[in-house]
Amino acid sequence: MTNTDNNRVVIFDTTLRDGEQSPGATMTHDEKLEIAELLDDMGVDIIEAGFPIASEGDFRAVSEIAQRSKDAVICGLARAQLPDIDRCWDAVKQARQPRIHTFIGTSPLHRAIPNLTMDEMAERIEQTVSHARNLCDNVQWSPMDATRTEWDYLCRVVEIAIKAGATTINIPDTVGYTAPVESADLIRRLIATVPGAADVIFATHCHNDLGMATANALAAVEGGARQIECTINGLGERAGNTALEEVVMALKVRNDIMPFHTGVDTKKIMHISRRVATVSGFPVQFNKAIVGKNAFAHESGIHQDGMLKNAETFEIMRPEDVGLSGTSLPLGKHSGRAALRAKLKDMGVDVGDNQLKDIFVRFKDLADRKKEVFDDDILALVSASSEGSDALQLVNLHVTCGTGPAEATLEMEIDGKEHSATCDGDGPVDATFKAVRLLHPNKARLQLYQVHAVTEGTDAQATVSVRLEEDGMIATGQSADTDTVVASAKAYIHALNRLIVRRGKTGKDVKEISYRDVT
Ligand code: KIV
Ligand code: ZN
Repeated sequence: MTNTDNNRVVIFDTTLRDGEQSPGATMTHDEKLEIAELLDDMGVDIIEAGFPIASEGDFRAVSEIAQRSKDAVICGLARAQLPDIDRCWDAVKQARQPRIHTFIGTSPLHRAIPNLTMDEMAERIEQTVSHARNLCDNVQWSPMDATRTEWDYLCRVVEIAIKAGATTINIPDTVGYTAPVESADLIRRLIATVPGAADVIFATHCHNDLGMATANALAAVEGGARQIECTINGLGERAGNTALEEVVMALKVRNDIMPFHTGVDTKKIMHISRRVATVSGFPVQFNKAIVGKNAFAHESGIHQDGMLKNAETFEIMRPEDVGLSGTSLPLGKHSGRAALRAKLKDMGVDVGDNQLKDIFVRFKDLADRKKEVFDDDILALVSASSEGSDALQLVNLHVTCGTGPAEATLEMEIDGKEHSATCDGDGPVDATFKAVRLLHPNKARLQLYQVHAVTEGTDAQATVSVRLEEDGMIATGQSADTDTVVASAKAYIHALNRLIVRRGKTGKDVKEISYRDVT
């Protein structure tokens, strides 16, 4: 990609590759397609769709995203090995605009792993970048751990990669070690000293281990980088990556000082942030910049007073800029399906007829139980209605609990047949999960159980996230209900259904169960 407008910053989103590498953030095939489509629609320039050699599933996802791509460049990752690069090309080649991204660790620590001398590594870079360039005319090369690589050596290998045909040079701060001044200086030095630097785009890829990823990315732009690599909600290895919403909004809000711009439609930020939180099972922290629940909330009297007089007193951007309507939902139990569809459209949620039917049933049920139904309640229903196998379904749950032991009686449909069980537990959620395990025996370990209130009040919907691990496979589930225990049961069942899909089996292999207490 050539960038003729010198102030245009190219946005490269790696939610589906680096983001998906967060332990537990694995997404299903359909979820990846959905997120790629949302990224393309919001104007992201390049989508790193996966690591095709990593697994058959990654290959399929990257290929299908490539086939369906519209305006975005579709990129796949490949190590500095010829079979990786060939596999990557096979996956991306059907995109309207394909890109191969190949990388190798260049710092002393990373050179020691394949045990290559500086010269041997330089040769490998020349060979692999040339190979990629013979397949594709859009090639990105990354010296992994660039910020801990000797700067002279870095300049040398960047020059080799440019000569071998790389069109974008990405400078990763793989371990989140750099700081803003250094980040800018490094890019400046490369551009000033490496022959051929003016003919390529320099990119920045920052991890957030010291909480400086966004600052480092913006500093790199000041130093001359014109591509920022980032993820939605800052998802990514360890502490994550630069968050897309942060850099895009920073460039927009600070445009008078940093005269750069991106092609991203910022009004789509909130919706994609929520979808990524749902499908990855990584809820957004309340005080997260731009997309956190409190990002536009004003609590103190002084702030509220200022806001009423002039919103600019305490807000540097408007909630509407990122797609928040800020209004509470004027829908009630008498509202019809058309009103619900219109409201969803207003919130940027596009659902098919079947999903709308499902959400409508849940909406009516909620409106019967809850005085006010807010936008966030509706979004929680949308998240809860999405995807997965439905081999297991909650039919009924009755729980007794209090100061003594809790007891849960659960009816569940397993592959169309109803089963029920009663279990004691250390609290209502424990009793319920035991009953689920009794009806659907499994080895999955509960890695995470989290409850959030979606809106205010004791009748608020609770959103529950559950993360399960079984034989190295991870599945997350989410659900929302005004009853926390019901939301917990549904989230647990949701995660199990996704595990069933991941195992590549159906729930039909559930053995005859000996119930401790069958009702
Ligand atoms: O953090 C990193 O160095 C990476 C590379 C593969 C670009 O993700
Ligand atoms: Zn990374």
